[in-house]
Amino acid sequence: MKKWLAMMALALCALTLTACGGGAPAKSSGGSSAPKTETVKKDVASSGKRALVVYFSRADENYNVGVIEKGNTRILAEMIAEATGADTFEIKPAKPYPKEYTPTTERAKKEKNENARPEIVGTMPDVSGYDTIFLGYPIWWGDLPMACYTFFDKVKLEGKTIAPFCTHEGSGLSGTDLYIADATKAKVTEALVMTGETAQKSQGEAKKEVSAWLKKLGYAK
Ligand SMILES: Cc1cc2nc3c(=O)[nH]c(=O)nc-3n(C[C@H](O)[C@H](O)[C@H](O)COP(=O)(O)O)c2cc1C
Repeated sequence: MKKWLAMMALALCALTLTACGGGAPAKSSGGSSAPKTETVKKDVASSGKRALVVYFSRADENYNVGVIEKGNTRILAEMIAEATGADTFEIKPAKPYPKEYTPTTERAKKEKNENARPEIVGTMPDVSGYDTIFLGYPIWWGDLPMACYTFFDKVKLEGKTIAPFCTHEGSGLSGTDLYIADATKAKVTEALVMTGETAQKSQGEAKKEVSAWLKKLGYAK
């Protein structure tokens, strides 16, 4: 954890973006359309609201957890979908990140410095039938992975409620709830914030935290 904080301090000096509050300012999509999908809409538990879990997560080698088969954030995404009956959509980069941790951090840093919008694959979900979007992501360089901003450019979320959940290894939420609000103009709820190590290695504990958070948001079964 300390290592990430130290690295972040160094990185913030190096970043040409505005430190801390920098994030990734919303870029207009230039009117890109969100094609319709065949997504089946389910009722969300007892709330009767409709929700979609959208997440970005990376498996393979990662900080504190070694080589993993399932990304830390994905584990939480699956727990949320299971608990609420929500549908899921994964934000997948067109060019996968390296399997090794360090080269991944280097590419991610370059993308953040350039405020890039890495291409993402697949048909974007039609969100018109959903009230709430549970949005999951790892903290990358104190921000969301840039591919999440690509998603925001493609799928209009204004007027929706976004419930963010993130995994990290020391930086916490890092103001990403504000970056999401800025980029999407959606209403953003209290976030679920957990270390990747907890999500990966202490799934019983993780499940309890997920349940408590869902309950607080009114999505408990
Ligand atoms: C490219 C990259 C950048 C990261 N940057 C941070 C960071 O700024 N702060 C932090 O606490 N953890 C950072 N981490 C650790 C991840 O947030 C953490 O391992 C997370 O749980 C990964 O989730 P995932 O398995 O769903 O991708 C970084 C990891 C990677 C691969």
